[in-house]
Amino acid sequence: MSCVTRVPIISSNSHFLQRTTSSSSNNINTFCFNPLIKSNKNTTRRRLSVVVLSMAESNRSTVLVTGAGGRTGQIVYKKLKERSSEFTARGLVRSEESKSKIGGADDVFIGDITKPETLAPAIGGIDALVILTSAVPKMKPGFDPTKGGRPEFYFEDGQYPEQVDWEGQKSQIDAAKAAGVKQIVLVGSMGGTNINHPLNSLGNGNILVWKRKAEQYLADSGIPYTIIRAGGLQDKEGGIRELLIGKDDELLQTETKTVARPDVAEVCVQALQIEEAKFKAFDLASKPEGTGTPTKDFKALFSQITTRF
Ligand SMILES: NC(=O)c1ccc[n+]([C@@H]2O[C@H](COP(=O)([O-])OP(=O)(O)OC[C@H]3O[C@@H](n4cnc5c(N)ncnc54)[C@H](OP(=O)(O)O)[C@@H]3O)[C@@H](O)[C@H]2O)c1
Repeated sequence: MSCVTRVPIISSNSHFLQRTTSSSSNNINTFCFNPLIKSNKNTTRRRLSVVVLSMAESNRSTVLVTGAGGRTGQIVYKKLKERSSEFTARGLVRSEESKSKIGGADDVFIGDITKPETLAPAIGGIDALVILTSAVPKMKPGFDPTKGGRPEFYFEDGQYPEQVDWEGQKSQIDAAKAAGVKQIVLVGSMGGTNINHPLNSLGNGNILVWKRKAEQYLADSGIPYTIIRAGGLQDKEGGIRELLIGKDDELLQTETKTVARPDVAEVCVQALQIEEAKFKAFDLASKPEGTGTPTKDFKALFSQITTRF
């Protein structure tokens, strides 16, 4: 370890501290004593607390959440911000509007995953990436629920699932790999084993087909990954249900095929911290509230997963 830059961390006696920068992130994270400079008991104590603080900083993981303005993405971003002793959070959103929706902080970058050149500022220096971007179908105008029938959906030009859920996810994975990212968590969807799944006909987008292709690309990337294939997402309270792990869409044949968005978000954050989540792909749902035991032990949850894809 070499110490390179002097920094004025403490107003008095500050000159005895020097710092280095991390290679994986630009966080300043290591301080060294200059043995040539005399100190008393108080300054030693202060030095030690700075060292402890900076060590805590060096253990902090810088995590980018893409789709951070989305319904699950914003919960993940918030959870990371709340756990600031463990994470330095970043978000990627598509517009100023989405940025202000999640607080407008400087750690929120604006970019479009279908334009890889817009991703570099957000991805540079991160340790982990959580992908929560997804093509968003729009309802065709003119649908009148009082007349019965089903609404029709479409995707905007350039924002079809092929472009967002395949090429856009692929661009993020490529950029993350080039930046030396140590883990990628990707939220996908159950239903991908069935080419005739109704979601594939939505807006003629074949969304589950493209999502599955991106999942495969991630699994083949060599980067430690966690692929969470969520069941039907619900805007309900998290932390109060027993979570269920499945594989190959088997849960879709049961009565337990939904999961609350805050629970998916918590699984994303836990996956960043628990080794057992790495190199795994799994379906995620939950028992109904009031049945089963709310999941608290995520290491045990991830240990149940037997599938790499
Ligand atoms: N809905 C369900 O029941 C269900 C079930 C299982 C799995 N899932 C999957 O779970 C994940 C999270 O779902 P969700 O409903 O929470 O997501 P969501 O609210 O639809 O959010 C998707 C986000 O992706 C962003 N996005 C889309 N195209 C982009 C682009 N080109 N560049 C940058 N960002 C882009 C959107 O940005 P804007 O805010 O700018 O539009 C939006 O914030 C998705 O992958 C979804 O497919 C959903």
